[in-house]
Amino acid sequence: MAVQKPSKGSITKPTDSAEEVFAKEGKVAGHILEKLDDEILNINRMQHGLRGASTMKQPSIEEEIELHDSGKEDEANENWHIASEYYKNIDTKAFRQYDLACDRVKQFYEEQHEKQTVAYNIQARINFKTKTRARMSIWEGLEKLNKLLDDSDPDTELSQIDHAIQTAEAIRRDGKPRWFQLVGLIHDLGKLLYFFDSKGQWDVVGDTFPVGCKFSKRIIFPDSFKVNPDFLNPLYNTKYGIYSKHCGLDKVMLSWGHDEYMYHVAKNNSTLPQEALAMIRYHSFYPWHQEYAYSYLMDDHDKEMLKAVRAFNTYDLYSKIDQQYDIEELKPYYLELIDEFFPNKVIDF
Ligand SMILES: [Fe+2]
Ligand SMILES: [Fe+2]
Repeated sequence: MAVQKPSKGSITKPTDSAEEVFAKEGKVAGHILEKLDDEILNINRMQHGLRGASTMKQPSIEEEIELHDSGKEDEANENWHIASEYYKNIDTKAFRQYDLACDRVKQFYEEQHEKQTVAYNIQARINFKTKTRARMSIWEGLEKLNKLLDDSDPDTELSQIDHAIQTAEAIRRDGKPRWFQLVGLIHDLGKLLYFFDSKGQWDVVGDTFPVGCKFSKRIIFPDSFKVNPDFLNPLYNTKYGIYSKHCGLDKVMLSWGHDEYMYHVAKNNSTLPQEALAMIRYHSFYPWHQEYAYSYLMDDHDKEMLKAVRAFNTYDLYSKIDQQYDIEELKPYYLELIDEFFPNKVIDF
């Protein structure tokens, strides 16, 4: 089931203003996006758990890169979604939910893997640079995202702003630097893209991966790349493709989505350190930060960034709790935090 955004006017009365159309379509479509994104997160959480359960001793990042660089683990990794012995022996509610989510998420990835091409990614970047989608403050952006995703379904327990605050509060509770806390708050703000000019869900959420070189077997559902037009293109289907050995990830075009979009917004408008920008840019790049794929494209700087992204990932995955914070109570703290790193109150989205 590939869920499409409703076409313009499909659920709209002719008398509606542009703002009303946007709000209505956003509410319906946004909720579907949110559900899908939650399922993707659950699968990543489960995969994370599987890796943790089967690892007796945690190797260092350097050891992991060395091990995975050989490519020997590709075959085993193709079957990551099949339950390990550990999980076969327990029948948990969480695992059944994972099985159910798997089909929907698989269909989502089939579409994403077919459509994320080099051509699409170049166009998405041109669109980003030649257009301003909205002008507002970071907090207004959070509220807009929250409202659009939230209003359609009273059963939604946790909203986008709850996830943002929970992630930020978990980072703050652990005494991490203020810039790190701000990353927690804004890392998913790029999902606003869905309401601006995305083509569907496939160019907003989901794990990301490089385009322009061979698709790694360590990307989730790797077989679905066979229908991507780039799959048979000799310019793009070799190990390095349009890149070169250890060229650095900054030179690599990652599939377009909320990470890459928000990275550019934050880079253009904030004084956040490079670790913070890397956390935003790569937080959905699971094939890299969890599976150590594409280590042959990394430079030394990326090794440092990998540590940062992995540090952030734990908070993204595991900070979702039932407790809801009082947003109004916390708002002054976070407004001050935003002001500290975003010199201009109103920014271009
Ligand atoms: Fe995200
Ligand atoms: Fe997140």
